[in-house]
Amino acid sequence: MTAILPPSERLWWKHPLDRVEGTWIAIAFVWCMVMFFMMVYWHAYGKQNLSTETYKTTPDKFAAKAEAFAAKYTVRTETEQKIPVVAPPPDSDVYLIGRLWSWWPILELEKGKTYKLHMTAMDYNHGFSLQPANINIQVVPGYEHVIKVTPNQSGTYSIVCNEYCGINHHTMVGRLYVK
Ligand code: CUA
Repeated sequence: MTAILPPSERLWWKHPLDRVEGTWIAIAFVWCMVMFFMMVYWHAYGKQNLSTETYKTTPDKFAAKAEAFAAKYTVRTETEQKIPVVAPPPDSDVYLIGRLWSWWPILELEKGKTYKLHMTAMDYNHGFSLQPANINIQVVPGYEHVIKVTPNQSGTYSIVCNEYCGINHHTMVGRLYVK
């Protein structure tokens, strides 16, 4: 019998399981379980996927806070789109918006100082991926994710979106300076 022809017996699920087939199903199942428990393991011991405090919010509420934050601490603008570069004082609340297809605003933080970073998505699921540090946080619409950050290395970082969010997903790149 080939795969092109219909099976000789229509009730294929009544056939006894072949040894090889059963072995592969068992291997696949065990591997699924390994992957599943690795998620729990990495959550506890991994350093990439950070756990955030999460609160309910709305795009309007969050945008109001982020705009007030930018209005207060903007030091200059960058790129043709005049994106504000916001340099908040240490120990303050920092706001970052993810939306189709940008991260807003550009942040400028000080090395060794601690900030409370608040993030939300305005429309769809986005992924905050800080490169090259390789720190990843899911940014979900309707939720405000809060995390304490203390940059330990100065430099220019990219914030890459790592959740597919549509046709211009690949252009959704932001910037973060650590001085
Ligand atoms: Cu936002 Cu992909």
